[in-house]
Amino acid sequence: MNEHLSQQALFRTSQLEEADSAPRNPTDNPTMGEIIAKRFSRRGFLQGSLAVSAIAATVSPLALLAAGDAKAEGNGSAFSFKEVEAGVDAKHHVADGYDADILLRWGDPLFADAPQFDPAKQTAEAQARQFGYNNDYVGYIPLDGSPTHGLLVVNHEYTNPHLMFPGIVTVADGKIVQKPLTKEQVDIEMAAHGGTIVEIEKVDGKWRPVLGSKYNRRITVNTEMQISGPAAGSDRLKTSADATGTKVFGTVNNCAGGVTPWNTYIMAEENIHGYFSGKLPEGHREAANYERLGIPEGAYEWANFYDRFDLSKDPNEANRFGWVVEVDALDPNAVPKKRTALGRVKHEGAESIVSKDGRVVFYLGDDERFDYVYKFVTSGKFNPDDRAANMNLLDEGTLYVAKFSDDGTVEWMPLVFGQGPLTAANGFENQADVLIETRRSADLLGATKMDRPEDIQPNGVTGTVYVMLTNNTKRTAEQVDAANPRAKNAFGHIIEIMEADGDFAATKGKWEVLLKCGDPSIADVGATFSTETTKNGWFGMPDNCAVDAAGRLWVSTDGNSNKATGRTDGLWAVDTQGEARATSKLFFRVPVGAEMCGPLFTPDDETAFVAVQHPADGGEDWDGHGRPSYYEDLSTRWPDFRDDMPVRPSVVAITRQGGGKIAV
Ligand code: FEO
Ligand code: CA
Ligand code: CA
Ligand code: CA
Repeated sequence: MNEHLSQQALFRTSQLEEADSAPRNPTDNPTMGEIIAKRFSRRGFLQGSLAVSAIAATVSPLALLAAGDAKAEGNGSAFSFKEVEAGVDAKHHVADGYDADILLRWGDPLFADAPQFDPAKQTAEAQARQFGYNNDYVGYIPLDGSPTHGLLVVNHEYTNPHLMFPGIVTVADGKIVQKPLTKEQVDIEMAAHGGTIVEIEKVDGKWRPVLGSKYNRRITVNTEMQISGPAAGSDRLKTSADATGTKVFGTVNNCAGGVTPWNTYIMAEENIHGYFSGKLPEGHREAANYERLGIPEGAYEWANFYDRFDLSKDPNEANRFGWVVEVDALDPNAVPKKRTALGRVKHEGAESIVSKDGRVVFYLGDDERFDYVYKFVTSGKFNPDDRAANMNLLDEGTLYVAKFSDDGTVEWMPLVFGQGPLTAANGFENQADVLIETRRSADLLGATKMDRPEDIQPNGVTGTVYVMLTNNTKRTAEQVDAANPRAKNAFGHIIEIMEADGDFAATKGKWEVLLKCGDPSIADVGATFSTETTKNGWFGMPDNCAVDAAGRLWVSTDGNSNKATGRTDGLWAVDTQGEARATSKLFFRVPVGAEMCGPLFTPDDETAFVAVQHPADGGEDWDGHGRPSYYEDLSTRWPDFRDDMPVRPSVVAITRQGGGKIAV
């Protein structure tokens, strides 16, 4: 316990990796710098329209092809609403004609007998019965197929002690200094992590949680989970508490996620390095493995009270995090399973789609500068008539990593033990080793280093796949490549993949840049929003995204601020088709300091659920506050705006006044 540690705790954001540390990918895999040079020197390159569009075009021949029977015939935007004015203030704002109602706030009771939220008397026991902190992924699992009655599944990514707990912050030289946390506060943090499953229903046009529901459940750092798939039982997963390597308590840093075609809830473990402290024993076999993931980062103080988070005491515990977790939300007693077949990285999310032959494809981003884009294809086929038959589909299949090439093609390279470099010669004894060290396996295969892959979303209507690449200011001019086309990429970009023959399980496809983000009025930024995009419509730092039932793309952001872009984060509607391609409009914006997570559309497109994460975490750069923001001096008290209530991360339900589909 020391000041250094508690200071570090303040930098817990979903952008932990944006701290001043060096990027963690040590390989010299091609960045396509040379490839670009090759492209421009190749005779006749202009004949390849794909190659050209991959670099610069925003109205793309691929997209027109992709449109098929969708909306290509229309020249205008696929979205109809009056956009919100971009800016920064203490409130949220939604487009005219829509309501944005608070559905669930941090601390709201989830059970009929759960205590009301009392910020002055927080306990871990109460928190474990209430809605957790920093809502991120939001998913919807219909009950009886209903678009107005179902289960909302929500990830609670991380905790911000300086916004949660009274009396732990002092300010010195304009900077926040945080006291070390007590055990009780650490226990509250652990109970505020994980996920929430809650029954919700829409009554008279308004959504409400059903407090007495048998489905309601909190998943926390203390929830018992099973480790399944090829790495289960590996010696490298055995700890003092679990000699079998198959049982683990809890999940951390669940960022985005997914709902599978068989209606289970996926929680992706992202920035796991922050939770571990201490030093591995000298010469320990996991040293290189942990270094590749930045473990330990020590942002959290849990190791002060729980040995399993101290690498010197339980060196293998960190191998039991960094996985994709599957939860059967329809069975409140189901043991969540860490599905090791999908690899161990800093998983942003795991959105899925059924391929032509019935196998299921999961798209996976590894959110770190210069890390990779993955997908997992199940061996078995989805059976829509027998839910039970699908429940272990995620234990067998092939994990692939993406190589984006100079000719506009993408190759999905399998991470299979015994194939290529993934052999004993490189220290792999079995598939468990390949999966535990997913990043090193992908390094050896020569995967393409990306600008922080976040959400990756397949679009079942157009057949395309969108890859959010949030930013990477460490990319140098020499490291620029066609798929990561800007040095010092502060504002991120979006790539579109078209799998071969429209088959999501294909091992090859084509790709192009859909959008380079940032202020299009500043030429040096190199943004490629359409000229129809207004000063409110552009954004930086794409993070999460959703495709609605009509096949339209919605993008939410992480990192906009008064200083960075003169605007808060928000939810933007982005045209992908026809002449309106790359036109963006602001639909909803968050209060100061917040990040926009979710988003999610109900199957009838009549509700958009969005998650407002870490409101009031910031505001120094906004003249409405202009100083550090913490529990006693918050830049916003959203959403309650009561002097006796702290700021509270919350899920918001957006509906059209009078009913109807959104943005039509
Ligand atoms: Fe938790 Fe990659 O954002
Ligand atoms: Ca992010
Ligand atoms: Ca996030
Ligand atoms: Ca995210």
